[in-house]
Amino acid sequence: MKIAVLPGDGIGPEIVAQAVKVLEKLKAEGAPIEMETAPIGGAGYDASGDPLPEATLRLAREADAVLLGAVGGPQYDTLDRPLRPERGLLRIRKELNLFANLRPALLYPELAGASSLKPEVVSGLDIMIVRELTGDVYFGQPRGIEVRNGERVGFNTMLYSESEVRRVAHVAFGIAMKRGRKLCSVEKANVLECSELWKEVMIEVAKDYPEVELSHMYVDNAAMQLIRAPKQFDTLVTGNIFGDILSDAASMLSGSIGMLPSASLDEHNKGMYEPIHGSAPDIAGKNLANPLATILSVAMMYRYTFADLATADRIENAVKKVIAQGLRTGDIWTEGTQKVSCTEMGDAVLKAL
Ligand code: IPM
Ligand code: MG
Repeated sequence: MKIAVLPGDGIGPEIVAQAVKVLEKLKAEGAPIEMETAPIGGAGYDASGDPLPEATLRLAREADAVLLGAVGGPQYDTLDRPLRPERGLLRIRKELNLFANLRPALLYPELAGASSLKPEVVSGLDIMIVRELTGDVYFGQPRGIEVRNGERVGFNTMLYSESEVRRVAHVAFGIAMKRGRKLCSVEKANVLECSELWKEVMIEVAKDYPEVELSHMYVDNAAMQLIRAPKQFDTLVTGNIFGDILSDAASMLSGSIGMLPSASLDEHNKGMYEPIHGSAPDIAGKNLANPLATILSVAMMYRYTFADLATADRIENAVKKVIAQGLRTGDIWTEGTQKVSCTEMGDAVLKAL
């Protein structure tokens, strides 16, 4: 089990260190884990002038799984676009062909009070968003900024091939089969041809999964429904940009973006695992960050890449236990609970393991 550890920027190194403690413990118990660390994002740029250094990409290619912290920071915002930290992240997703991004939005009952929505709207929430990750307007060509008719225009191309839609559809239907057997495909087929094709392919693939109930929703309505009545959803599947936006919205239903892990998989279940939150430069280096999303990303790694469901459950149960004990980092703290630091939270999870 070769794991490439890419801490990245901002709070990345702090939260990844806590997840690495979990992996070290499993290793000490006998799991054949090998870890190697490499820079990515701003750290990659600082180390070698490239947000995805050659050596980092090579390490990630050779690994069975990648554990990533977060990338980005204000000091890099003025760099040329290809040198920015975000580009490193987008490139590693593309290079490793990680087309299926799984973003669960799960509410821990004790955290219902930390959500900005009423507890009755979010309690029991358990949604899985499957976001296509290597296509769409993120990667479509042509793209650019140029002068036309004496003024600058900016343009990108929203593009999906049938095969790109089909492969992510199969992943989403497969996941829906293991969950509530309800899949909602989100697009904007009332306006966009790209979405029209998306929807057609979803309907074709649905024939292979007669047990799954497929529905369709326009993305604007889906944004509204996620806030109005999120529990109507079981599994959602959507394109790259819509998934980017909806998954941030969905994360807030669960109280804190600091709780949510993600998996990005290729067709062989090789995966990159990362918290869905960003590098939070404002709290970086202060031992304040919530490491639970990163620790839960290790659980997802066990579930999807190592197919070791018992260990995945064990890690998730340890996280549930520390939440039940009332331990909270600042982002999920509410009156009457105990505020802890990033490292204290990591230690508590180790103990609960
Ligand atoms: C995400 C992030 C990235 C994305 C950024 C950092 C490029 O927002 O993983 O959701 O847009 O995909
Ligand atoms: Mg995003």
